[in-house]
Amino acid sequence: MKKKLLLSIFLIMTVILSGCGTEKVVLPSQKEVTDKTIKDVFAEHGMKVGTCVSSAVKNDEKMQALVLEQFNSITMENAMKPDYTLNHDKSMAEGKIVVEFNSEALSLLGWAKNNNLAVRGHTLIWYSQTPECIFHEGFDTNNAFVGREEMLTRMESMIRGMFEELENQGYLSLFYAFDVINEAWMEDGTIRKNHWTETIGDDYLKYAFYYADKYAPETIDLYYNDYNEQYKADTLSTFVNTLKDENGRYLIDGIGLQAHLFTSDDVAGYLAAVDILAETGLKLEITELDIGLGKYQNPQPATDTHLKEQGRFCYELIKGLFERADSGKINMDAVTFWGFSDGISWRREYSPQLYDSELNPKYFLYGAMQIREHSGY
Ligand code: GLA
Repeated sequence: MKKKLLLSIFLIMTVILSGCGTEKVVLPSQKEVTDKTIKDVFAEHGMKVGTCVSSAVKNDEKMQALVLEQFNSITMENAMKPDYTLNHDKSMAEGKIVVEFNSEALSLLGWAKNNNLAVRGHTLIWYSQTPECIFHEGFDTNNAFVGREEMLTRMESMIRGMFEELENQGYLSLFYAFDVINEAWMEDGTIRKNHWTETIGDDYLKYAFYYADKYAPETIDLYYNDYNEQYKADTLSTFVNTLKDENGRYLIDGIGLQAHLFTSDDVAGYLAAVDILAETGLKLEITELDIGLGKYQNPQPATDTHLKEQGRFCYELIKGLFERADSGKINMDAVTFWGFSDGISWRREYSPQLYDSELNPKYFLYGAMQIREHSGY
């Protein structure tokens, strides 16, 4: 009788748990499965592998150790966006743009330097997370917008100031790539209207690359970075062709594919877009990879079934990229994940990362590492 009761409780609990979609999926640990790290696997294909980081990562011993063990490149999730690198008070007082890093940026840069982590710069010119005041007379939002010439001067100062500040602080040599422009194109093939187009005009795009090319050292590749790139491949291919100087030399080195994807997306379609972009002859980098469960309007719970779909999706995506890089069809030197733990991802409701919130491996991780038998098949 007692046994029967226990059995029924067990069955009821199992049904409830799987019904809620919260069943705990425990996979063998990374060390049980392989003696390689993620960076070992990507290095075999000539690529660095990165993650975005914030102080939350650096201040947590376990996460910090994981980043140092598994990755060899970082991007600052926020700390190098214009909102955090342009000093409002000083710009207002001096009447010109002043670039200055905050304590988070300095501490992450110091950490990267001490631990031989390479850094992707993100981002110089963007319509978002950029202080409104830089577009106004006297850096005061109560005033009118400045004219085109003044805005071009401010843009030049922002770009020159970033590279000078990195040089002065002793961090310039850590950088191998920099996003000059983020998210300028719409899915319908038009330029996104924003304060840059309003003050300068659509040719702000070319000026940004012109200044970046002027002030960045040769060792840093200059990137255009965007999302929904699988729907913008033709637009972007046409666009990058316009980024040339008087002698026909490209002012840009590469196209950054953010790859904020969902398991409902189509891997073959995505890789077809990669092929179109590769025909430009420019470098390509995956810059913000995450793969959400379900779709944007409809996140799915982290059940074993959905997590397996995610693992297989990643396996096929990375396999496609490795094959293309190995055969020389694409020139890709880095893949960056937009985080690594479901617990601190900006899209955590979609469980979109390599490890779960307790840093246990997911099928996704083994998919990325091309260990097929643990990737959800
Ligand atoms: C875009 C930006 C990133 C970041 C994400 C959200 O992809 O390029 O810097 O803001 O959105 O984290």
